[in-house]
Amino acid sequence: MQWNLAKASLADVPADLIVYPVFQRRDEAELGPLLKDAGGPPAARGGGHGHPDLAGIIRGAGFKAAQGSTLPIHCSGVKAGWFLLVGLGKSEEAGLQEIRKAAAVAAKKARVMEARKVALVVPAAETLGFDDAAIARCWCEGAELALSPVGELKTGQDKSVGPRAWSLLAAAGRGKALRSGLREAAAMTAGCLFARELVNLPPNLLTPAALAGKARAMARREGLKCRVLGVPELKKLKMGGLLGVGQGSAHPPRLIVVEYKGSRRAGAPKFAFVGKGVTFDSGGISLKPGAGMDEMKADMAGAAGVLGAALTIARLKLPVNLQVVVPTAENMPDGGAIKPADVLTMASGKTVEVLNTDAEGRLILADGLWYAGRGKPDYLLDMATLTGSCVVALGKHFAGIMGNSAELMETLKQAGGETFERVWPLPLVDEHKEIMKGTWGDLQNIGGGREGGALTAAAFLSAFVDEQVAWTHLDIAGPSYLAKGDAVCPAGGTGFGARLLARAVQILAG
Ligand code: BES
Ligand code: MN
Ligand code: ZN
Repeated sequence: MQWNLAKASLADVPADLIVYPVFQRRDEAELGPLLKDAGGPPAARGGGHGHPDLAGIIRGAGFKAAQGSTLPIHCSGVKAGWFLLVGLGKSEEAGLQEIRKAAAVAAKKARVMEARKVALVVPAAETLGFDDAAIARCWCEGAELALSPVGELKTGQDKSVGPRAWSLLAAAGRGKALRSGLREAAAMTAGCLFARELVNLPPNLLTPAALAGKARAMARREGLKCRVLGVPELKKLKMGGLLGVGQGSAHPPRLIVVEYKGSRRAGAPKFAFVGKGVTFDSGGISLKPGAGMDEMKADMAGAAGVLGAALTIARLKLPVNLQVVVPTAENMPDGGAIKPADVLTMASGKTVEVLNTDAEGRLILADGLWYAGRGKPDYLLDMATLTGSCVVALGKHFAGIMGNSAELMETLKQAGGETFERVWPLPLVDEHKEIMKGTWGDLQNIGGGREGGALTAAAFLSAFVDEQVAWTHLDIAGPSYLAKGDAVCPAGGTGFGARLLARAVQILAG
């Protein structure tokens, strides 16, 4: 989609559809401030164009501007021909996410109405209680993300196209802020959509090698460095975790390294992201039950999220340096696969007794974290669809965060509120580290029972992180994949984490 600021007035804006976001006030839709702000619709400006009585139509239709409701109105006197009122709900309850949701509804409605060019009347900042940059950013994000492509692999079907261009209608003085919001949104949505696309690809098409190819192509497009280590190099680095998890698969593992250099300044903050890239998790010899196993194609959502974040950070040209490390493997049962009781030697030199081959994410992350740690980052973040236990604890709308730095966790919480990719802190404590100590190796890859599965997983990871580095682990098993779509995301991969991490880096970059 193209996004720009409208040059024409509301009456002659070259669009098929004009969208008005409207607040719910008591039981009456409140149009006044919005219309005034946009310079007023033709009718309100004294008319003479033969416009219908908007207020009358709204009352007649019983439109209350409830969150997500819409009312299309045909209007002959404007070039566009159609208005679409979109409810924002009650003003006192509206946050930035309500703007994204309204934009999503409007975009989907525009698609049904086959509107190709859409104009948006941008409500005044005072009306909404947000600054113009945030309004433009969230509107653009909502509209773009709601229409992210699905069904690309279906044949013989009409691909329904949404709007191709959006122009924002607002008083001239607001241009600068709106433009900056749009620029930020374009970077944010590009990263999120890239991540979704990767997650949605089926595991026969997205093998570890294919994921590496996708990362390489993205890096080339965005001007980033990319290195892909294959099995011989992984052997040289003695990455027993990554090699072990991958050894039961016909598709050998890889380590993907993408680098962004955004600053030459000596004191510029150095970030490292590690993303779990299990392209399919069958559980291995500790095979998962059949029901729902298809969702394990999304077990590389952490990888997708960190690669998407790198894309966004590069587009925003943030003044930081970043290394993204993606250990990627397919977890399969096979005569050559690892089995319970195997003891693996990890790249760090620590030994791990495998008690359950389905706890594979932590094995590949251990090597990924070790690799990222060698670059001595100031901030180290790993993101992974690590445990079902985290989904049980926090559900589908929150990622669990565990780490050693209150500052970093607080920043993630702030970034999560702003992007609506929300996180919730969970404990990382010595008692859990104790549980992960092994009988036959330094560590074992599962705790004793089922208690605190997300917490013991994080405790395991901490053994591969330098205590001096500010580190946070994000368990995104819940929010990374939707079996049923929601307001701003079709069913499938959500792209969770791309916007969150990019925003967190933006905050820390100052
Ligand atoms: N990929 C799964 C975790 C997962 C579960 C992600 C549900 C998304 C939705 C992970 O590799 C796994 O199998 N974890 C096990 C760990 C257990 C064996 C200690 C789990 O959570 O059950
Ligand atoms: Mn598993
Ligand atoms: Zn897994």
